[in-house]
Amino acid sequence: MIDRDAPGPVTRSRRRATITSATVKLPRTSGASARESPTKSLQVTGEGKRKDDRSDRMSCHKLQESMLSSASSFRNYRGILNWCVVMLVLSNARLFLENLLRYGVLVDPIQVVSLFLKDPYSWPAACLVIVSNVFILVALYTERQLAMGSISEKVGLLIYVINLTIILCFPVVVVLKLPSITSVGAALALGVYTVLFLKLYSYKDVNRWSRERAQAKARMLSRSLSCPSASPSSSCSGVQSPVSYPGNLSLRDAYYFVFAPTLCYELNFPRSEGIRMGFLLRRLFEMLLLTQLLVGLTQQWMVPIIRSSMKPLQEMDYTRMTERLLRLAVPNHLLWLIFFYSFFHSSMNFVAELLRFGDREFYRDWWNSETITYFWQNWNIPVHRWCLRHFYKPLLRRGAGRLLSQSAVFFTSAFFHEYLVSVPLRMFRLWAFMGMMSQIPLAWFVGRFLRGNYGNAAVWLSLIIGQPIAVLMYVHDYYVMHHQEELSIAEASHYEQTRI
Ligand SMILES: CC(C)(COP(=O)(O)OP(=O)(O)OC[C@H]1O[C@@H](n2cnc3c(N)ncnc32)[C@H](O)[C@@H]1OP(=O)(O)O)[C@@H](O)C(=O)NCCC(=O)NCCS
Repeated sequence: MIDRDAPGPVTRSRRRATITSATVKLPRTSGASARESPTKSLQVTGEGKRKDDRSDRMSCHKLQESMLSSASSFRNYRGILNWCVVMLVLSNARLFLENLLRYGVLVDPIQVVSLFLKDPYSWPAACLVIVSNVFILVALYTERQLAMGSISEKVGLLIYVINLTIILCFPVVVVLKLPSITSVGAALALGVYTVLFLKLYSYKDVNRWSRERAQAKARMLSRSLSCPSASPSSSCSGVQSPVSYPGNLSLRDAYYFVFAPTLCYELNFPRSEGIRMGFLLRRLFEMLLLTQLLVGLTQQWMVPIIRSSMKPLQEMDYTRMTERLLRLAVPNHLLWLIFFYSFFHSSMNFVAELLRFGDREFYRDWWNSETITYFWQNWNIPVHRWCLRHFYKPLLRRGAGRLLSQSAVFFTSAFFHEYLVSVPLRMFRLWAFMGMMSQIPLAWFVGRFLRGNYGNAAVWLSLIIGQPIAVLMYVHDYYVMHHQEELSIAEASHYEQTRI
């Protein structure tokens, strides 16, 4: 066997060949002309060529930049990226082992069930979700009445205002009055109600736009006395004709929208040709696996760090608070990334594939964000689209300024973030609200002072550090409110253990 690294004949001949080829290409004559065009080939013949060959064989330098210098135009850093991944795996393996040695195995699937249910015979969160069907039926009934002209636009709007207000208030009252509902169950139910609120708001708007368009069209037709059968929707091309208003006001259409992975209603959604079983099963597998991973990592990695952060937080020990915050940032960020993939890619694609929903743009390349604005435009496309279509653009059209409209959108978004956290935890602290509102000055700062990679690093930093600050604030306040006594005993020992 030939050792490829040994300085044997193979290596030697290869080296000689390299040198020879280099000498043919590069002029070794001293002087300005050679330096001016180092890559220009020499045309040498006969004796001169042999002499040059001899002198070229002795030279081993040419005019060139070091690879890591920016002038070298070298851009292949694949190996460095692999090194980063290897280092990441190694350092996390160390953390994993350290965690296991310190806390033992904390993953407990039974405990997960208790997060959803306090009493196995009482399922308040599930009941809340079932009750939400009433609001869908009210919206559909109102739309049918509006389409038939049985009620006026004003009455229709009033019914919608009442319906949408109840959608937001009813689950709050239930969660605050019913002690048997757990925080996780309540968060899920409130999430369903928030999504329903946004969907029915869009349903209302689009049906109103369709009515206005139909009325305008009817006025035009009656004026021009043109034949309605000439409209393109009635052409018999053999392709399934699109639904037109009020043909969309059916139970089937309403429920398709309720389950579809979008918040913006349309009479005719783009549809995929069929269901790809392989794709569907892959997404299902990812969903199941990643959910397990999320739960496991939270129990094994997040919870112990949060517990050990309580004491420094209570004592306002700033050095230790910062250390705990940075320690929490890594698992928190990893969980957030896993959540992003499992929700925006696996789950949404799973539902879309099942419903043959064609538009799969649930996210765009937010990871390349060089500004905070770009991040909010690209990380959650369903919410961003809803904000643009039903809130931001209508405000702009009514003459509100761009900054005012953006602030209004972020204010509403901040309200919903606070709503989804404070109500399930049954405490009102405004950390989520402030976190969302702080995006406006942060967006201004990053947009004004940072560019390119610096802007991208700022976006990542705000995600990596901003979220655990909010998590720690809420968890601290929650523990202080609910577990003060058990906390003081357990944390004292934890704190001593992790002080090293
Ligand atoms: C506030 C927000 C909607 C602004 O979006 P944006 O893309 O930065 O807004 P822009 O000013 O660039 O304009 C967007 C659109 O409005 C249009 N527009 C701008 N000024 C306009 C005007 N005066 N009249 C009508 N349309 C106008 C633009 O042409 C553009 O249209 P396009 O989308 O068809 O290209 C966005 O930042 C957002 O979605 N924020 C909240 C996100 C959020 O809370 N997500 C929660 C995730 S958990």
